[in-house]
Amino acid sequence: MTAVSAVAHANIALVKYWGKRDGALMLPATSSVSLTLDAFRTTTTVTLLPEGAPDEVELDGVRLEGAPRTKVVRFLDLVRSQVPPELAGRGAGVVSRNDVPTGAGLASSASAFAALAGAAAGAYGLDLDRRGLSRLARRGSGSASRSVFGGFVRWNAGDLDDPVRGDETSYAEPLPTAPDLDVAMAVVVLDAGPKAIGSREAMASTVATSPYFPAWVEHTELDAAAATAAIAAGDLTVLGEIAEASAMRMHATMLAAYPAVRYLAPASLEVLDAVAALRADGVGAWATMDAGPNVKVLCAARDLELVGEALALAPDGARRRVLLARPGPGLRTETL
Ligand code: PMV
Repeated sequence: MTAVSAVAHANIALVKYWGKRDGALMLPATSSVSLTLDAFRTTTTVTLLPEGAPDEVELDGVRLEGAPRTKVVRFLDLVRSQVPPELAGRGAGVVSRNDVPTGAGLASSASAFAALAGAAAGAYGLDLDRRGLSRLARRGSGSASRSVFGGFVRWNAGDLDDPVRGDETSYAEPLPTAPDLDVAMAVVVLDAGPKAIGSREAMASTVATSPYFPAWVEHTELDAAAATAAIAAGDLTVLGEIAEASAMRMHATMLAAYPAVRYLAPASLEVLDAVAALRADGVGAWATMDAGPNVKVLCAARDLELVGEALALAPDGARRRVLLARPGPGLRTETL
């Protein structure tokens, strides 16, 4: 039996991806730039089952059924559509484990689909280079295209005029990085409360109804170019300023959707204030937020403990949970 195991890490966007121009091909409206982290990884093993056997999917020891299973089966079907018939007829056993602190609300579709892409392509004998794996991972979850690579990564929007060429040219790639750009990230875990709307649905609603969306698209391409340049030049201050501005603009465009999409919680705003206070004290720290209330703070590696400690103190004297992360590696696969 052929079995391939793959490990991929979460990534946090510094220039955000928010909105698709093609939902079926998962083509983004803009390019985005991210940092892959050493924390929060997914390990997935795909084993080929006999001809005609139904796919079996297990996540963190629980057998998946219904919609979550269907998402994985659809992705396996995409892989099977690209392999010879004698392999395409075989089902798969998928066993996946997330190394994410429990209850942190950080389970990442990025690490999950990057690991699944690597393991499924390997098990079905689909010979893909890194670029091909990034394009494949993109079809599971857009941000997964970036987790194929470690460190600073850029996911290109690709050719905007034609979907076929767009599909071929929308992949992630590692960014040339100044050797002295030594960054880290503090992740402030806040109570998620009732689960807000998922990113797929929220993006579609933003694209369809937010009057700010065209401005977001136009500006994000400029931010991606500026962030790419700042990473090459090793300018953490410029990179941090772009990252915080991109996150605020992303949340502004979704707040302008109808009905408004809001992930910012009162506690998120308190953390944004604490990050601004750190900067006022001369510490380089910049916040970013995704489709949830948690706040991720970019800083120099040498400031990580200090930043983490400052953000752990809530105004009411309570302690917030802060996870400390550093840049991490790209996708690795191993044939078992
Ligand atoms: O790849 P998705 O569908 O999980 O979307 C991710 C969207 C954000 O995390 C909010 C931003 C990003 O670029 O990762």
